[in-house]
Amino acid sequence: MLIASPSILGTAFFLYGALALPTWPSSIDELEDLMFLNTGYHSRGFSAGVTPCSFFKQGPSRTASAEWIRTAFHDMATGNVYTGIGGLDASIVFELAGNGGENIGAAFNTTLETFAPFFSTRASMADLIALGVYTAVRSCGGPIVKIRAGRVDATERGAIGVPLPENSQGTFINQFIRTGFNVSDMIAVTACGHTVGGVHASNFPQITVPGTVPNDYQLFDSTTSFDEKIASDFVGGVAGNPLTGVTAKRNTRDSDTKVFTADRNVTITALADPATFQSTCARVLQKMIEVVPSSVNLTAPIEPYEVKPGNLQLSLAGNGSTIDFSGEIRVRTTTRSATTITKTELMFKDRLGASDCGDCLISTEYKGAAEGFDDTFAEQFYGFSASLPVETSISKFNVRIVLNTGEVILYDNNGSGYAVQDTIMLQPKQSCIVEGNTPGNFVVVVAVRDTVKSPMVTLSLTLKTPRSCCVAPALSTKSFTMLAQATIGSYTLYSGNYSLEASYKSSAKFDVAVSSEATIVSDSFKSTTDLGSICTPFGSNDTNLPTYSFEGCYTDSTESRTLTGGASVDDKMTVKACSSHCKGFQYFGLEYGRECYCGNSKGAGSMQVSETECKDPCGGDSSETCGASYRISIYKDTTWIPTINPKIPGYEYSGCYNDSASSRTLSDSFVYNEKMTVELCAAFCNGTNYFGTEYFSECYCGASLSPGSTKQTEDGCSFFCSGNSTQYCGGSNRINIYTKS
Ligand SMILES: *[C@@H]1O[C@H](CO)[C@@H](O)[C@H](O)[C@H]1NC(C)=O
Ligand SMILES: *[C@@H]1O[C@H](CO)[C@@H](O)[C@H](O)[C@H]1NC(C)=O
Ligand SMILES: *[C@@H]1O[C@H](CO)[C@@H](O)[C@H](O)[C@H]1NC(C)=O
Ligand SMILES: *[C@@H]1O[C@H](CO)[C@@H](O)[C@H](O)[C@H]1NC(C)=O
Ligand SMILES: *[C@@H]1O[C@H](CO)[C@@H](O)[C@H](O)[C@H]1NC(C)=O
Ligand SMILES: *[C@@H]1O[C@H](CO)[C@@H](O)[C@H](O)[C@H]1NC(C)=O
Ligand SMILES: *[C@@H]1O[C@H](CO)[C@@H](O)[C@H](O)[C@H]1NC(C)=O
Ligand SMILES: *[C@@H]1O[C@H](CO)[C@@H](O)[C@H](O)[C@H]1NC(C)=O
Ligand SMILES: *[C@@H]1O[C@H](CO)[C@@H](O)[C@H](O)[C@H]1NC(C)=O
Ligand SMILES: *[C@@H]1O[C@H](CO)[C@@H](O)[C@H](O)[C@H]1NC(C)=O
Ligand SMILES: *[C@@H]1O[C@H](CO)[C@@H](O)[C@H](O)[C@H]1NC(C)=O
Repeated sequence: MLIASPSILGTAFFLYGALALPTWPSSIDELEDLMFLNTGYHSRGFSAGVTPCSFFKQGPSRTASAEWIRTAFHDMATGNVYTGIGGLDASIVFELAGNGGENIGAAFNTTLETFAPFFSTRASMADLIALGVYTAVRSCGGPIVKIRAGRVDATERGAIGVPLPENSQGTFINQFIRTGFNVSDMIAVTACGHTVGGVHASNFPQITVPGTVPNDYQLFDSTTSFDEKIASDFVGGVAGNPLTGVTAKRNTRDSDTKVFTADRNVTITALADPATFQSTCARVLQKMIEVVPSSVNLTAPIEPYEVKPGNLQLSLAGNGSTIDFSGEIRVRTTTRSATTITKTELMFKDRLGASDCGDCLISTEYKGAAEGFDDTFAEQFYGFSASLPVETSISKFNVRIVLNTGEVILYDNNGSGYAVQDTIMLQPKQSCIVEGNTPGNFVVVVAVRDTVKSPMVTLSLTLKTPRSCCVAPALSTKSFTMLAQATIGSYTLYSGNYSLEASYKSSAKFDVAVSSEATIVSDSFKSTTDLGSICTPFGSNDTNLPTYSFEGCYTDSTESRTLTGGASVDDKMTVKACSSHCKGFQYFGLEYGRECYCGNSKGAGSMQVSETECKDPCGGDSSETCGASYRISIYKDTTWIPTINPKIPGYEYSGCYNDSASSRTLSDSFVYNEKMTVELCAAFCNGTNYFGTEYFSECYCGASLSPGSTKQTEDGCSFFCSGNSTQYCGGSNRINIYTKS
C-alpha cells in the first residue's frame, strides 16, 4: 500500500496501488538484482556475457546469447509433463561428460561456467539458466520473457530425449508433446530459439561442410538480432538456414523444415510478422523455462521494486551504548525523473515499535545510478549511516521521498514497513579474513542481545566447491557453534573462526543465527569479500582512517577553489569526518566551520597565510578549527599514493574519451566487477585493439573506437578503480582508453 500526502493521494493510488508491489524481503531479491542491475552503480554484470548480442565470448564462431538460449532448451527438453519429472532443473550439468551424448558442442560448459559466479543459495543454477533466457533475448532486442523463480537444481543426470536434427517430424511432435508443447507452440519455440545463433560445421559435419563457411559457423538466418527473419526467410524461400536441408550440403537433418511445416506452414507464416513473432516468443519462451518438475513451486514473475533496501547492517558500536545502522535505498525512477527527487529519507520506529517520533528520521546521500536493458529501469541509490541509542534502537522503517514539486511519497513495503532486527548482528569491523593461510584466518564476531534466553549461536559458511564430474560447482554448507567472548551492556559478543582456503575467499557466503527454543533469528547472506584483513577489537579506535598531517591555513575563494576534487557541507563537520569523505585524495581542507573540500593539488592562486586566520570552530567538535570565511585549513594524507593510468604491457594509454550509454565508445564486449582494476580489464579484453575503464567498475573492449567519441580533458576521468584506488577508472560518461601498441 502506498500512503501519500493528501494533495496527491488519488493520483498516487491510481499509479501504484493497482500494481502488485513486491513485499521485501523476498526469495527473489538476489535474482531481481541480477535481472535489473546491468550497468552503473552496483551493477551485477550478469548481462555482460551477452552484451552486446553479437558478443563472441569464445571467438568469432560462438555467439554467447544463442548459447544461453540453447542451454535452457536442452536442459528443459528432456522433461516429462505427464510424470512431472525433469524439465528446467540444471540436470544438464551432469549430462555433458564424455562426448556429451545429446548435448554436442562446447556451448553448455561455457554457459554454465559463465553462470557459476552468480550461483548461490539465493540463485539456483536452474533459475540462472532461466534468467539467462530473459537476458540473452533482451540483449538481442527481443521481448521481455517473464521470469518466475524457485527452480530446484537436480543432483544427477536426467532422462534422454532432446530433439535432434535427424529425428522424423512425428518424433519431434511426440517429444514436444511430452514437454507440454502442441504443434503450433513447437514451431514457435523452435523459430524463437533459432532467430539467433547457427550451426558449427565441426560439431555437425553432416549438416554443414567444414571449410565451406567462414569461422566454421553458419547462421540460421540473415541477421544476428532477435527478429522474425528466421520465419520470413523460410516462408519467402530465402536460402541459408542450414537446418532447412537446402544448403551447400543437401541432407535429411533438416529439422527446421520438418518442424516448421508440421501444420502446413500456418504458424511459421504468422511468425513472419514482426509483432506476432515478438509477442509469441515472449509467451513460448516463458513456457519453455516453466517446464519444471512437479515438485517445484514457481514464484510470481519478478518485477522490479519501486523501493528496495540493500546492504543493511546493524552493529554494536562505540563503547556499546550505540548501534550503527548503515545501508542503501534503491529508488526506481521509471515513473518519475531522478532529477525530481530532492530528498530520500528513512522514518523509523524504535525496537519496541513505538510510533514515529519527530526525530526518528535518517537522511541519505545520493550514491549513484544503475540501469537495466530498458531505460525505464534507471535507478538511484541513496546511502545512509546512522548511530542509534542501544536502548531504543530500531525495528522497522518506511521510506519517504520528497519531490521538487513538494509532493511527499511514503513507501511502507505494502503496509508492513521494512523490518530490521537487532537480536543478532554481524560485527563487520571485528570480523576479518587475515591474509595468508594461517589456521583460523576467517574470524566472525557477532553481537547477541540479552533478550534471548539460553542462546545457541551458529555460524554457517557456504562454499562453492568444484566438482570433478562437471564444470558447475556445488554448494556445501558447514555450521559451527560460536562461543561467548564478552558481555557489553545489553549484548554479548560471540566469536567463531575457520581456516578458509585462499580459493574460497572471494566467493564464500555466510550466515549467523541465534536460536532459542522454537525461535531462530539470523543475519544472512554476508560475503567474505566485504570483510577487511584486520579484526579491530571492540571498543578500540578506528585504525583504518588515513593518517594525516596539518599543512597550514590557506586562502580560498568561491571563484577559484583551492581544492577541486570534491566537496561536502555538514553543520556537524569534524576533521575526521572530512578526512573520511576525502579518502583517496592527497589533501582535504575545512572552511567556514562546516565545509569540506578534497583535492590532489592545491590551486595555484591559493596562498598560505598565518595559522591564526583559520579560526572558526568545527560545527561537530568545537575543540577543532575548520578554517574561516575565505580561509581553508588544509591537511595532507601521509599515506597517499598518486593515482595513475598504469602501464599495461603491449598497450599505450591514449587519454580520456567521452562515452554514452546510447552510443558506446567501445562496443564489442563489457564486464563489470566491483573490484575492477586496469589489469583486470586488460585481461578480460584479451588482446583487443582497445580497452577502457569507466565509472569505477566498468570495463569495455573493442576492435575500433566509435568515431563519435573524442578526446576530452583528463580531469573528466578522475574516478578511482573500485579494485585499486591508486588507478584511474574513467568517470561519468568518460572512459580511460588504452590502445594496442
Ligand atoms: C500487499 O498487501 C495486501 C493486503 O495486506 C495483500 O493482499 C497483498 O497480497 C500484498 N501484496 C504482496 C505482493 O504481498
Ligand atoms: C564439459 O565439461 C565436462 C566436465 O569437465 C567434461 O567432461 C566434458 O568433456 C566437457 N564437454 C565439452 C564438450 O567440452
Ligand atoms: C497450442 O497451445 C496454445 C496455448 O499454449 C494455444 O493457444 C493454441 O491454440 C494451441 N494450438 C493448437 C493447434 O492446439
Ligand atoms: C511451406 O513452406 C516451404 C518453404 O517456403 C515450402 O517449400 C512448402 O511448399 C510450404 N508448404 C505448404 C504446405 O505450403
Ligand atoms: C511446493 O509447495 C508444496 C505445498 O505447499 C510443498 O509441499 C512443497 O514442499 C513445495 N515444494 C518446494 C520445492 O518448495
Ligand atoms: C559510553 O559513551 C557514551 C558517549 O558515546 C558516554 O555518554 C557513556 O558514558 C559511555 N559509557 C561508558 C560505560 O563508558
Ligand atoms: C579459533 O577458535 C578456537 C576455538 O574454537 C580458538 O581457540 C582460537 O583461538 C580461535 N582462533 C582465532 C584466530 O580466533
Ligand atoms: C580513542 O581515541 C581518543 C582520542 O584520540 C582517546 O581519547 C581514547 O582514549 C581512545 N580510546 C581507545 C580505546 O584507544
Ligand atoms: C594498485 O595500483 C598501483 C599502481 O598501478 C600498483 O602499484 C599496485 O601494486 C596496485 N595494488 C594492488 C593491490 O594491486
Ligand atoms: C563526444 O563529444 C562530442 C562533442 O565533443 C559529441 O559530438 C559526441 O556525440 C560525444 N560522443 C559520445 C559517445 O558521447
Ligand atoms: C585470448 O586470446 C587468445 C588468442 O588471441 C586465445 O588463444 C585465448 O583462448 C583467449 N582467451 C580467452 C579467455 O578468451
